[in-house]
Amino acid sequence: MSVDKAAKADEQKKQAALQALTLVKPGMNLGLGTGSTANHFIRALGAKVKEGLEVKGVPTSRATAELAKELGIPLTTLGDHPFLDLCVDGADEFDDQLRLIKGGGGALLIEKIVATSAKEVVIITDETKRVKTLGQFPLPIEVVNMGMKATAWKIERAFRMFGMNPKMALRVKDGQLFRTDMGNAIIDAACGEIKDADRLEFVLNNIPGVVNNGLFINVATRVIMATAKGTQEIKGK
Ligand code: 5RP
Repeated sequence: MSVDKAAKADEQKKQAALQALTLVKPGMNLGLGTGSTANHFIRALGAKVKEGLEVKGVPTSRATAELAKELGIPLTTLGDHPFLDLCVDGADEFDDQLRLIKGGGGALLIEKIVATSAKEVVIITDETKRVKTLGQFPLPIEVVNMGMKATAWKIERAFRMFGMNPKMALRVKDGQLFRTDMGNAIIDAACGEIKDADRLEFVLNNIPGVVNNGLFINVATRVIMATAKGTQEIKGK
């Protein structure tokens, strides 16, 4: 992406975040997402908290927890608040049925736990994230270290059942094997079109050694997508 396009996308992410902020009401317990779009929301929320808004947040990653603490947003846990009012997060892709690919930032597991604990899940994005069919973004699959090669082989076999043969790569960051906040590794699977995302999510998650995968099906209740012409809301049925 060119510098100009990236700056435009970032401005759109900010606009979507500001729109999501209008859904926050005093006293709410919120899921706080991870990534550059979620960070825009968290910064805007932090400003409201400074003005006196009383809310609590459950962070979906260490990075989000640190940012929220810096901004003075009170944090809580799912242990204390297992039912959240609203979760606001970004996504790597979404389709017209509000199905998502998440995990580009590696926080997919906690993001899924937190999002599925919330009454309303609002995904904030720029317009580049909208796709007709999921799969242009490599699908992150979080795996435990033990038996990782065997798990990778079982993942390949599962993809073959779907007539797919994605290029799979262990995620590396700064020359080191990437570790999630939970200490697991991520296999990124460059799928191309995912024709049966609902069943694929289930089948991958059923492989021993797979902790979870980045397909979020029936999780988002609303997408707020910013475009050059303003923000658009796409609601689930
Ligand atoms: C992190 C995620 C993010 O929501 C996703 O990667 C989008 O990131 P960004 O808002 O920086 O584009 O799933 O695990």
